[in-house]
Amino acid sequence: MHIRRFQPNEELALFEVYYSAIHLIARNDYSEEQLNAWAPSDLDHELWVNRINGINPFVAEIDGKPVGYADIQQNGYIDHFFVSGHHSRQGIGKALMQVIHSEAKRLNITELTSNVSQTAQPFFERFGFVVVERKKSVIRGVELPNALMRKALRDISFDPTTEDHHRPSQLK
Ligand SMILES: CC(C)(COP(=O)(O)OP(=O)(O)OC[C@H]1O[C@@H](n2cnc3c(N)ncnc32)[C@H](O)[C@@H]1OP(=O)(O)O)[C@@H](O)C(=O)NCCC(=O)NCCS
Repeated sequence: MHIRRFQPNEELALFEVYYSAIHLIARNDYSEEQLNAWAPSDLDHELWVNRINGINPFVAEIDGKPVGYADIQQNGYIDHFFVSGHHSRQGIGKALMQVIHSEAKRLNITELTSNVSQTAQPFFERFGFVVVERKKSVIRGVELPNALMRKALRDISFDPTTEDHHRPSQLK
């Protein structure tokens, strides 16, 4: 596996990652109606291309094919974090999380935040994020429960052996 920056013209390949992550993995936590609102198969192409170019994510690839992607914005906000449903639980998310922590360090970012799906909350908790606020986001008219999660980067070195999954989330 290799992680690099997004390249123009691979927006469609990233849509396949996004679509399969949601329809194959998040299906355990959301209804069909919610999944179709979150990742419609006929999502507007121009909207998607602008979105992906706007967030400029890191892309994980295997044999030249994108299998996951995640971004980090200047303020520490993670907008997208998706691993292909055909490649889950193989350490791709962990590798992307490591790159995001390295980039945060390079940019002197002091906290990471993200609006995280119910599906991904245990994964984010695994890397020391805590729930700040439970939300009911509305996408294309359909309500999807998610949560604002945060991780303070006081010690911003990423050490997979000190991931704090015992830290209680604030709302639990
Ligand atoms: C959440 C997601 C990014 C995880 O990616 P992944 O590549 O499968 O995760 P990894 O294999 O790198 O797992 C890293 C660690 O997190 C744990 N983990 C991953 N998914 C988990 C889950 N759903 N519940 C509990 N632990 C989880 C793994 O067990 C692993 O722990 P370990 O190192 O102790 O073995 C991926 O499943 C996904 O895209 N999900 C659906 C879409 C989604 O909700 N995205 C987030 C939108 S905010």
